[in-house]
Amino acid sequence: MTAHPLPRLPAADDVSSPVADEPVALLQLDLSDPVEAASAVYRQVRRGRRVVAVACGGAEAPTRLAEALDAIGVAAVRPAPGEALLHDGVTVVPGPETAVARARPGQLRPLRVALAGCGVVGGGALPRLLADAGFEVVGVLVRNPDKARDPAIPQGLLLSDPAALLAREPDVVVEAISDASTGLALIRAALSRGVHVVSANKQAVGGDLSGLTALAESTGARLLYSASVGGGAPLIETVRRAAAQGEIIRIEAVLNGTCNFILNRLADGGAFDDALSAAREAGFAEEDPSADLTGLDAAAKLAILAYEGLEQPLRIEDVSGQALSADSVLPSGRVRQIARLDVASGRAGVAFEAVDGDLLFADLPDEANALRVTLADGRVFTATGRGAGRRPTAESVWADLEDLVENR
Ligand SMILES: NC(=O)c1ccc[n+]([C@@H]2O[C@H](COP(=O)([O-])OP(=O)(O)OC[C@H]3O[C@@H](n4cnc5c(N)ncnc54)[C@H](OP(=O)(O)O)[C@@H]3O)[C@@H](O)[C@H]2O)c1
Repeated sequence: MTAHPLPRLPAADDVSSPVADEPVALLQLDLSDPVEAASAVYRQVRRGRRVVAVACGGAEAPTRLAEALDAIGVAAVRPAPGEALLHDGVTVVPGPETAVARARPGQLRPLRVALAGCGVVGGGALPRLLADAGFEVVGVLVRNPDKARDPAIPQGLLLSDPAALLAREPDVVVEAISDASTGLALIRAALSRGVHVVSANKQAVGGDLSGLTALAESTGARLLYSASVGGGAPLIETVRRAAAQGEIIRIEAVLNGTCNFILNRLADGGAFDDALSAAREAGFAEEDPSADLTGLDAAAKLAILAYEGLEQPLRIEDVSGQALSADSVLPSGRVRQIARLDVASGRAGVAFEAVDGDLLFADLPDEANALRVTLADGRVFTATGRGAGRRPTAESVWADLEDLVENR
């Protein structure tokens, strides 16, 4: 995967109205583990905080942190000596050789994790789960146990029956299956037993979010699904923050990394089939890309965002769609697939629009996603990030797991 810098945008345009009790986080980070350090920053970013990250561990520590952040779609400013420290987003500054050790909360016993799906997303989470003493992987569910895999699944963990996975009595199911019905059935079965669920599967979660939420509440389980919309971009969190600040009148977003990737290639004169193949190779396109290309994927994500931001649920089938194919006649100019919900009219749709001059949407690289939420009083909340791919999506799953550990 080629790493492209993402446009730097504030989490909230209206800085006169702080969106969190503590809108700035100051973190001292040990860069002997850049992935762990980037995760700590990411979790603050998705809470809507501006971050000053002090990178400890030598002269190269700020570079290591900036690179690890870029891999998960978080852009960082590195101010020159004498420049202001506090920027929108993340600022990385050099720190001392040694950081103060970070105590991990709630380390009672390892959290027992059942991983369902070990493809792009699940395969990104597995090595980290296996390496972290805070988690014990009790089983890994796949469809085809005979398939060669990278990463390899350790002996004794490989399963192909969802019931056998739950029989291993996990505390949490990490659901990263590509099949909506199997994913939904597994989520329901887990929540019914009081087992927490972290899901990346928007078709499963978006199909019955109110039902799943009610089920989770009835058994005391938690359902987290940050990765299901926006991959590593904190879109769900941004809608929640906006809704906490006032009445949402509009949601507009680029929600499908595959379409965004293909549209950029088409704009550069590339052929549709080549662009789709490249999106698949990069791990952005689904195994069956028809949901990406028909707009169904973006519709499911819009339904989840609507659930987060509005009282009334939005059914996926009520979102109008427009397909992208080799024969599509697109508007001229810079084109994006825009998912749009207008609350007053109740209109919800996914369509290809020219976005020239729109600073949020026009320059989105490759798999990037972006969101704009408008409130009745005119305030606007925005977010952007990497909407697909192993590292950013697994990072979002990881942040949900860390939230579970923290709230144990
Ligand atoms: N890729 C991304 O960038 C991204 C971003 C955000 C959200 N998501 C969502 O995350 C989920 C996983 O995506 P992915 O890209 O990781 O897909 P993937 O690479 O195709 O992997 C899917 C995994 O699910 C397993 N699986 C599929 N059907 C199954 C069934 N009936 N029973 C048991 N296991 C089954 C597959 O098993 P085998 O390995 O044996 O085939 C595979 O391990 C999807 O819901 C997707 O929409 C993906």
